[in-house]
Amino acid sequence: MSNKIVSSIPNSEKIDRIVQAILQTPTPENSQPWKIVVRENVLEVFHSYERAKLATFPDDLSVLGIGMIAETIELAGSTEGLEARFTFLLEERSDEHPWLRAELNTVDNLSPAPLAQALFLRHSDRRYYAGGSVDDPVFQEVRQEAAAIQGANLYFTEKYPDEYLQLLKNADQIALKWPEFCEDMTRWVRFTDKEIEKTRDGMSWRSFLRKNPNWLYYLRSRLWWLATRLGWFPPSLQKLESYIFDDSSEPSPSSYDDGAGIGCITTLSASVEDLVASGRLVLRLWLLLNLRGYGFQPITNLPAIIYPQRLGTFNLPNSLNDLVANGYETLQQVFGFSEPELPIFCFRTGRAMGEYPAIARTLRRTDHVCYR
Ligand SMILES: Cc1cc2nc3c(=O)[nH]c(=O)nc-3n(C[C@H](O)[C@H](O)[C@H](O)COP(=O)(O)O)c2cc1C
Repeated sequence: MSNKIVSSIPNSEKIDRIVQAILQTPTPENSQPWKIVVRENVLEVFHSYERAKLATFPDDLSVLGIGMIAETIELAGSTEGLEARFTFLLEERSDEHPWLRAELNTVDNLSPAPLAQALFLRHSDRRYYAGGSVDDPVFQEVRQEAAAIQGANLYFTEKYPDEYLQLLKNADQIALKWPEFCEDMTRWVRFTDKEIEKTRDGMSWRSFLRKNPNWLYYLRSRLWWLATRLGWFPPSLQKLESYIFDDSSEPSPSSYDDGAGIGCITTLSASVEDLVASGRLVLRLWLLLNLRGYGFQPITNLPAIIYPQRLGTFNLPNSLNDLVANGYETLQQVFGFSEPELPIFCFRTGRAMGEYPAIARTLRRTDHVCYR
């Protein structure tokens, strides 16, 4: 039975709270490639190609992002008694036209969705985890979430075969050795509090620390700051990095044993419907796990390479191609998905190590919201 629409113009504070929730939606490297236009009860979401430019993933990753935004609007709307009607405008993907239109109407009988409680709690947690197991009851809920969404699947591994760890490291190598990818990856790291406050986007260097900040880690962040500004990642720097910081989260660590496991979300195809479904699933799992005290860190280096490689849209320089030869097959073996599924989003998860430090939290811009 559908809900009855009782009024078409909800009050502006309700809409505003939904906009705040949209701003909190995660984006790759906190690049926030969206502009939100509010006209009474209609929200339009525009894309900014320049902010989203990712060398390996044309804009399918942004379509996944639209799925996350749609899910956010639906969840946040449920707490305001507002039902969303979506129009996805994803055929001609340009910055001039909106990618998503949501019309929000007041309905009776709408109960707040439980996951909405986590919209402002959710965050990326790159610290060590305090254990956890995919046999914990929360993973029962996680699997139910995945089963309820058509177009995307979820797989877990608790084991990290050497081929897989090697593939992760090779993906790091590609990211560091291919200038376009490297630029995408390092463009959004913010190294000083002043820079963070000024831009209100990107990621604080502190969020990459698996341990408490100390002088060694600060030194590391400065080294990386210098390297990214100069675009200079010689093997000697990478060796130094792994020698001093062998437990750091970047480049990939040699073990993930601190948590419950690694999840892999696959999309059944590169169609708009399946990508949107995948985005919805990513967000729902992230919210659910955070709500149950589990940390969540996307690890998308590998899907960022394997997805376009599989679609034949990845123009990887030949010299780097060998590093990920058989990458799809390796992921298939590790996670157990089958053709033609495409891995689009991987994450590590485990019991969070206490409260997430406020200082490591990412900020959001507000200058890309426009009320008409
Ligand atoms: C599609 C996507 C891919 C991401 N990939 C990574 C990743 O590979 N490694 C990582 O540490 N964080 C990754 N993130 C997390 C973002 O950096 C993070 O969501 C953003 O900085 C905002 O911070 P928050 O999640 O704490 O709100 C990814 C996020 C999204 C949405």
